[in-house]
Amino acid sequence: MLSALCAGAVRNMKKILILNGPNLNLLGKREPHIYGSRTFVDYLETIEEQFPEVQIHYFQSNHEGELIDKIHELGFTIDGIVINAGAYTHTSIAIADALSAVTAPTVEVHISNVHARESFRHHSYLSAKCKGVIVGLGLMGYAMAVRYLISEP
Ligand code: DQA
Repeated sequence: MLSALCAGAVRNMKKILILNGPNLNLLGKREPHIYGSRTFVDYLETIEEQFPEVQIHYFQSNHEGELIDKIHELGFTIDGIVINAGAYTHTSIAIADALSAVTAPTVEVHISNVHARESFRHHSYLSAKCKGVIVGLGLMGYAMAVRYLISEP
């Protein structure tokens, strides 16, 4: 009985995919003056503590096709996607198409303020496929995106 109740509670939990693209596995040691000195795995614990009622799926890849495969795999069943596609943001029509194909609403996040950096970082192929974009607020941008996505009806 209790396990059936628990299974029901887990089934009713909102599910959010956090997807990080290339080089974001190096957070903590990669250009800390831009991206900070905290690893993402460490930050993920904070997010999980902040949202105990949410099932967070985290996936990072340096490969475009793996990011697309993950969007296909979870994008029809979860409640939202938080994506920081790293440099693929500025190049990948394929990731943009994958976001269009699935049903989960998406929020695009960038740790740095891409608009204050090189001009090639000013354009995103993904933004038009997203509900919104959070840039330049550091790692906190991910938590803000989760907050928004779980408040969606
Ligand atoms: C980034 C910004 C991108 O331009 C860059 O290629 C990254 C990280 C950010 O989070 O600020 O890898 O997405």
